[in-house]
Amino acid sequence: MLYIIGLGLGNEKDITIKGLETIRNCELIYLENYTSLLQCSVEDLEKLYHQKIILADRERTEQGDEAIIEEARTKNVAFLVIGDPFSATTHVDLLKLAKEKGVLTKIIPNASILTAIGLTGLQLYKFGRTTSIPFIEDNPHLETPYNVLEENQKSGLHTLFLLDLKPAEEKFMTVNGALEILEGIEEKKKKDLIHKKTLVIGCARLGSENPLIKAGPLGVVKEFDFGRPPHCLIIPGKLHFVEEEMLKIYEGGE
Ligand SMILES: C[S@@+](CC[C@H](N)C(=O)[O-])C[C@H]1O[C@@H](n2cnc3c(N)ncnc32)[C@H](O)[C@@H]1O
Repeated sequence: MLYIIGLGLGNEKDITIKGLETIRNCELIYLENYTSLLQCSVEDLEKLYHQKIILADRERTEQGDEAIIEEARTKNVAFLVIGDPFSATTHVDLLKLAKEKGVLTKIIPNASILTAIGLTGLQLYKFGRTTSIPFIEDNPHLETPYNVLEENQKSGLHTLFLLDLKPAEEKFMTVNGALEILEGIEEKKKKDLIHKKTLVIGCARLGSENPLIKAGPLGVVKEFDFGRPPHCLIIPGKLHFVEEEMLKIYEGGE
C-alpha cells in the first residue's frame, strides 16, 4: 500500500493519530520537504515516529515516482507531505500513477496553508485564484502574480500569494521580498494596483506555536520583521465589516 500522509503545518506533533499509527507500520518512509517547511527537524520527526526517513527528491517525485510505486506493490510505503498532500503543491501525479499501475493507495489529510489563512479573519469563500511569487532571479519577466491580483480585484476577491522557497539552499522568500517584487512589476505595468497605501497582510508560521500576522499599508508592512519562514502574503479584495474589524486587530502585528 502507498500511504500519502499530510504532516500539518507546525512541528512533529501535528501529525494525526491515524497518520502516526500508519507511519509506525510502514517499512519505507519518504518525506517531501522541498515545497514547504515545518518548525522542527527531520530528526524530530524520526524520534516521534521511531522510524528512519528518506528524503524524496523533487525531480523524481513531481512526475510520479515509479520506484516508490513499485516498492509499494510489496511493502507498506509512506510518502509524507508538509501541510496537506493535495493542497497547493499537488502530489496527484504520484496518486494517479499508483492508480494506473494498480497499486493500492490511502490518503491521510491534514491542515494546509490554504485554510490556515482563515486566522486572518478573511472569509475563505471570498478568496480568488491563489498565485505564487517565484524568486525574481529565476523569473526576471515575472507578471503572473500581478495579473492574478488584477483579476481577483476586479471581482472584489482576496488574493493569497505563496512565496518561493528552496529549503536545500536555506533560501526562503520573505513577505518583505515579495512586496518588493510586486512593486517592481507595478513599476513596469503602471496600473496603480500596488502602491505604498495598498492594504496588505503578511503571515508567518501559521499553524505553529508562534504564528504572526501583520496587516496594514504596504509601506508599513514592508518594513516589518516577520521572523522565521515560511511566510505568505494576502492582498484583500472587498472587505466585509467583520473582516475589517479583524484586520484592525492585526495592525500591531500579533
Ligand atoms: C506550496 S505551499 C505548501 C503546500 C502544502 N502542501 C500545504 O498544504 O500547506 C508552500 C508555501 O505556502 C506558504 N506556507 C506554507 N506553510 C506556511 C505557514 N505555516 N505559514 C505561512 N505560510 C506558509 C509559503 O509561502 C510556502 O512557500
